[in-house]
Amino acid sequence: MKKIAALLGILTLTVSCRTTGTASSDITLKNIFKNKFYIGTAMSLPQIYGKDRKSVEIIRKQFSSIVAENCMKSMFLQPEENKFFFDDADAFVAFGEKNNMFIIGHTLIWHSQLPKWFFVDKDGKDVSPEVLKQRMKNHITTVVSRYKGRVKGWDVVNEAIMEDGSYRKSKFYEILGEDFIPLAFRYAHEADPDAELYYNDYNEWYPGKVAAVIKMVKDMKARGIRIDGVGMQAHVGLDTPSIEEYEKAISAYAQSGVKINITELDISALPSPWGTSANVSDKIAYDEKMNPYRNGLPADVQANWENRYQDFFRLFLKHKNSIRRVTLWGVTDSQSWKNDFPIKGRTDYPLLFDRRYNTKPVVGKIIRLTETK
Ligand code: G3I
Repeated sequence: MKKIAALLGILTLTVSCRTTGTASSDITLKNIFKNKFYIGTAMSLPQIYGKDRKSVEIIRKQFSSIVAENCMKSMFLQPEENKFFFDDADAFVAFGEKNNMFIIGHTLIWHSQLPKWFFVDKDGKDVSPEVLKQRMKNHITTVVSRYKGRVKGWDVVNEAIMEDGSYRKSKFYEILGEDFIPLAFRYAHEADPDAELYYNDYNEWYPGKVAAVIKMVKDMKARGIRIDGVGMQAHVGLDTPSIEEYEKAISAYAQSGVKINITELDISALPSPWGTSANVSDKIAYDEKMNPYRNGLPADVQANWENRYQDFFRLFLKHKNSIRRVTLWGVTDSQSWKNDFPIKGRTDYPLLFDRRYNTKPVVGKIIRLTETK
């Protein structure tokens, strides 16, 4: 079964090769999407430090953009106030520069993976708005200035708006109100006036969320605050969202005058207890029935999954003029966060490379989509 799948992959690439007249070794994701959008991946520490050599080989060959999966989050960069730790982030940026990649910083302001000290004073009480502003400014300025001109785009604020369009009741919101978002963008822009700045979120196709994000974008633009794009995370499943719903969101963001970045693409092949949330607190107890494919995907599920990837890439190609980047949230299935979310300990198949580092047949199929566009 596996051999047939691998063979199909090779055949697909060979067909592409014949029709385009390009050497087969040049037919990679990054070459094929070159004049359309960046194609990227998230990187883990073993990849950044070159310990996961097989993944690194894939990243160099296939991807034109990288983002750090974890090491640029505030709990790692500033674990204690004013004590910054940059070793991992430095190594990540050096990897990107060495390989001539479009480097993305993820993420400056997020309620999660944030150090405990950020919102409280020495007595454990909430800090004042002025102190929180100062802490945000210090964090953003220190981090963005360090990588000025090298990190090309920042997820400035992550996951601040809910599906119904209301603001998440995070401490940022409780202490500063809606203004924490424009403030963060201002600080980032002051630290690197050339960097692209994005608002990043999951489920960014829910109509209520789309409307609220667009309102936020327009308000910032009206106030002269730089925002270049929205990041649609795209942790999606086999059934939801529909391509039509997703397309409506892409078109609406494009019309509001920002670029779209597909920032954390993965397509789960597993049954979902409730849809497509990526809210990290929404975990659900393990249940054997919810982990049905431990030894591989049945042919019908595999076919659905491949069709789903092709449907999404068809959509991205259709809107290529509005899309700046498509980034996968990881390289191989074995490393994906989806194996532990929303149910811990499952076997999922959300990415483009399998557990043995083989290129999945769907990659050839995605590449073929570009031939008619
Ligand atoms: O840092 C500890 C380490 O000290 C410990 O040894 C290790 C043992 O498990 O855990 C480490 O923390 C892990 C952390 O990643 C860093 O590796 C956490 O357990 C793990 O839960 C955490 O998961 C990350 C998650 O964000 C946290 O919210 C995932 O790898 C990462 O893929 C995921 O990424 C987020 C995006 O940033 C934002 N959008 C949603 C996306 C998925 O949740």
